Formats: sequence, C-alpha cells, structure tokens
Amino acid sequence: MCGIMGYIGRGDAVPVIIDGLSKLEYRGYDSAGIAMYQDGNLEIVKKKGRLADLVTALGLTDKTGLAIGHTRWATHGVPSDNNAHPHADCTGRIAVVHNGIIENYATLRKDLILEGHDFLSETDTEVLAHLIEKYYTDSLEEAVRRALSCVHGSFAMAVISKDEPERIIAAKKDSPLIIGLGQGENYVASDIPAILGRTSRVYIMEDNEFVVLTSDSAEITDINGQPIEKEVFEVTWDPVSAEKGGFDHFMLKEIYEQPEAIRKTLAGRIQGGRVDFSALEFDEVFEKAEKIFIVACGTAYHAGLVGRLALEKLARVPVETDIASEFRYRDVLWKPRDLVIVISQSGETADTLAALREAKRHGIKVLAITNVVGSAVAREADRVIYTHAGPEIAVASTKAYITQLVVMYLLALYVADLRHTYEDKKLTGLASELLYMDTMVEQVLKEHNKVKKLAEKYKGVQSTFFLGRGLDYAVAMEGALKLKEISYVHAEAYAAGELKHGPLALIDKGVPVLTLISQDKLVEKSMSNIKEVKARGAVVVAICKENLQEECQECDEQILLPRVNPILAPLVSVVPLQLFAYYMAVLRGADVDKPRNLAKSVTVE
Ligand code: G6P
Repeated sequence: MCGIMGYIGRGDAVPVIIDGLSKLEYRGYDSAGIAMYQDGNLEIVKKKGRLADLVTALGLTDKTGLAIGHTRWATHGVPSDNNAHPHADCTGRIAVVHNGIIENYATLRKDLILEGHDFLSETDTEVLAHLIEKYYTDSLEEAVRRALSCVHGSFAMAVISKDEPERIIAAKKDSPLIIGLGQGENYVASDIPAILGRTSRVYIMEDNEFVVLTSDSAEITDINGQPIEKEVFEVTWDPVSAEKGGFDHFMLKEIYEQPEAIRKTLAGRIQGGRVDFSALEFDEVFEKAEKIFIVACGTAYHAGLVGRLALEKLARVPVETDIASEFRYRDVLWKPRDLVIVISQSGETADTLAALREAKRHGIKVLAITNVVGSAVAREADRVIYTHAGPEIAVASTKAYITQLVVMYLLALYVADLRHTYEDKKLTGLASELLYMDTMVEQVLKEHNKVKKLAEKYKGVQSTFFLGRGLDYAVAMEGALKLKEISYVHAEAYAAGELKHGPLALIDKGVPVLTLISQDKLVEKSMSNIKEVKARGAVVVAICKENLQEECQECDEQILLPRVNPILAPLVSVVPLQLFAYYMAVLRGADVDKPRNLAKSVTVE
C-alpha cells in the first residue's frame, strides 16, 4: 500500500527520500510527493504517476536536512496531484503523510469545514493535517497526540512543522512503520527496504507507539506519553528479500497480509452491529432488485460464487454468478430492476469491463467491487465498493480474494437489513462475527507447518481433486485454481455429490482428494462422498472445522479450522488451500509469483 519515507539529519534529505520511496515501489502506488523544509518554510511537491514524474517536477532542490515523502495507493479519492500526499493544513505550517484509513474522516471533515478549514483533496488523510492545525499552539507533539485521539482507524503517519524543523513526529496503529537509526541522522519509513544500505539498526514500531525523531535521537512513547524502551532490531536481509518483508515470495507475504486486509476492508463499514452502505445512495436499487447477476473472471468469479450463496441466504434475492467472458455474449433476459455486480481486483479485466458495458447498454444498474481506485470498472460502474487489500503483486490472487469475500458478506448483510429478510438479532450477530474473522485467519495461518508437511508428502502427484458442498464447493474451486495456477499440478474441483456422475472414474490409488468440511448441516452427506473415494484408494485430506473432526475421523489427514459460523467459513477454509498450493509450487521448483503463461491483469479478450 502507501509508502512513507522521512529523513532528519545533517545530510541532504531530498535524494534520500526519493531513493527510499523508490525502494518502496513494490508496495504499489499511483502518485508520489514530498514536503521539505526550505528557508524557514515547507515546500510541497506532489505528482500523479511515477516517481520519475515527481523527480522531474522537483527539478534541482537546495540542500535540506528535513523532509517527508510518500507514495500513495489511492483508497479515498482518485489518483491525482491534489490527492497525493503530503497534505498541509490551511496555513502551510505543517505537512502530513499517512498510510491507513481514517474511518471517521467524513464526520471529522464536516466538523472541520464548519470550523472554517479549507480542504483541497478528497482524502481521509487531509483531516489529520487540519486536526493537528486545530490543536497546534506551540508543541507539534502535543497537537499530534490530541489529533490522533480524535481519529478511529489505522495509521502510520509522519508530520513536520516549519516552526519545529528539528523534529519529525510519527505514530503507528495497524499500518506498518519503522525507524532507522543512523549517525547524526534518522529515518522513518513504512518498511525496511527504504532504509537498507543506510543503516541496519531499526526500531520496529508497534501499535499505539509514538516517536519524536531528531537528528540524534528517537524517543518512543506510548500514546499517553509514557516512555517505551525498545530493542534495536539488526537487519541482515538482502535488498530483494527485504522487499518481500523477509518472506521468500510475494504470494506468501500476501497470504500473511490477509488478516490486515480483512481489517482494512471492514474498517468503518460496520457501526453498532449494522453494515452501513447508505453513503452509496443505492438503497432503492438494493431494495427493489428482482435479480442480481454477479459477473467476474478467475478468482474474482469464485468470490462471486460465495457472494451468490450469501446474498441468497441472507437477502433472499435470486442471484446468478457467471464468468464474464460467457456472460458478455449471452442473451440475458434483462428486467429493468436487475442489478449487475462486477468483481475485479484490477478493475481492468477486458471481459469484466465488456460485461459491465453490456449491462449498461441495456440500462441496467452496475455496482463494481474492485481493489483499484479510479480503475476502468470503478469509473464506468454506477457505484463502486472498494476492497482494501492493498496492491497485490503475486499473479495468483489471495488477499484480494479474501477482501472480495468480505465485501460480499457486507453487502449481503446490508441488503438483508434493507429488505428485512433475516432476523435482526442474527444479522447483528453475523456482523460482529465478521469483525473477528481477521483473528480466525491468523489462527489458521498457524497451521502452516502442517500444510507444508502435506505438500512434502504429495509434491510428486500428477492429479488432485477438491471436493465440497455448498459454500465449500465454491472454495474448493478456488483451491483447485490456486494449485493448477502456480504448481502446474492437475487439480479438479467438484461438487461432492456430483463426483459419482463421472469423475469418480478418475479416482485411483493414491490420488489426493482435498475435502472441505465446514458446513455443519452437510457433514454427513460429505462423509458418504468421502467413503466413495476412499473405497477407490484415494487419500483424503479433510479441511474441517474443529467441531466436526469427530465426523471426519475416517479421513487420512485433517487440517483443522476454527469453529466459525458456516456462512463465514470460506474466509478461513481457503487459507490452507492457498498455503498448500504455495508449498506445492515451491517444492516443485515453480516460479511462484510469476506462473508460466499467466498474467496478473488480463486486458485482452
Ligand atoms: C487473471 C489473474 C487472476 C484474476 C483474474 C481476474 O487471470 O491471474 O488472479 O483472478 O485475472 O482479474 P481481476 O483483476 O478482474 O480480478
């Protein structure tokens, strides 16, 4: 996601910042900017586009010992010069860079405007600059503390003031931030690669920590000002593994980023046990929709399959999920009150875009769910809900998928609420369970060694099957896709009950069958199917909920999932499948992040 780089010291800040930001390019960005102290003032230069555009706009700069810079991945407001960071207050006295989401920014912004503040951007970050201005008398540190006490959400942020050029104030909650310790110079950055080669001595900031950085000191306190003794972390990473945060591949890093991605996608969207999408001003469409078509490609299509079951169960609307390349050429029986939902990580997939245009051509309302602000589907749809997975670099989608599921659940809860189709208490119960799914995913990630051992055992197989019923079938499809995409092992997903109508003929001795068992009501049915494949010599790996392990005893292996509501189970059950595909690919020597023949963004038909 966004990248932060700040410098204070006796050297020249601007080249250090540009170099640091370039090392953070892997995080993805659509604009960049810098605020530097020059002749008693703060000068801010920011540009939409690549870092090179910022460098051109900067031209030659005078030496300065203080600057903060930022690469922005748009979340609130399109990529543009104005929305790029740093953001300043009304007077230009302070400049702020921020990574994260200020969940209550809309209310804060309204209040600040009433108090006379002028806003220049559409970003949530700008409220921070004005809040700090509001509380700033003579101590920037105090003003930042007071401002942060007003905000809800996630932040890694750094602030400078022209009146206190001897310090940078920075703080962190739920977004990464590190401090690099040099000699007569110090750094603040989103991630270690930014400072690699300059220093190997680092403080890894924890949530709710606050730092006052000068050229010679880094004083860390908690949010109330109590000093914190931190251990210096000695970095031994090489630059390439540093970009991957110490992980061997982007895919693994992104699998581990899923809890954070879930938190960010949920942020501010559930209030008092209820989902609130009223700001979309689409309630009438949601309330009156006669039928919903969910259209997407690849992994996003699989998220749509889960979305269909969730929407039908909770909101009681007929839903059809289709592959965009098929849908665009179908002769759909449109009704004026239909709604089309397109899901696309990149927002640029040619077939998905064509399906969207086809719906619009028939006067049908379109809602887009995408990860990329300002992308083609975001621009062309009537409304858009963003997932906040952050940039996904590995071709095989993981964290984008999980955030698409989160949005599908949010939407199902919201539409059910509007249409009064699901018991109130159950709706609020589900919403609060959704808020815990990040920790449930964290729990599943702890099973990684067990999954790795499975991959070691089965790395030589030619063919695999993935089975499930209901929501488990939708996840089985995603698991099979992951495996074939990156490990090149043949993988077939089947609805468990359909196996005996053909594919059972392919089950032979030693064929691994990964079976998802998270739907309490369907467990007995699934077990009969498991018996069918076991009788033909298959080895059955059950990915089953803790409370169902008794029923799954006949399976050869078990990977346990936490006890979650069956409706929400896909959020946890997909994780072992992602890890399985990952380890299989690594053990078979495949290029995990860039699988052969595949592209991240498919902009051709
Ligand atoms: C490509 C990617 C997949 C992705 C699909 C749809 O095939 O490799 O990971 O699921 O496109 O992409 P979208 O950006 O529309 O979600």
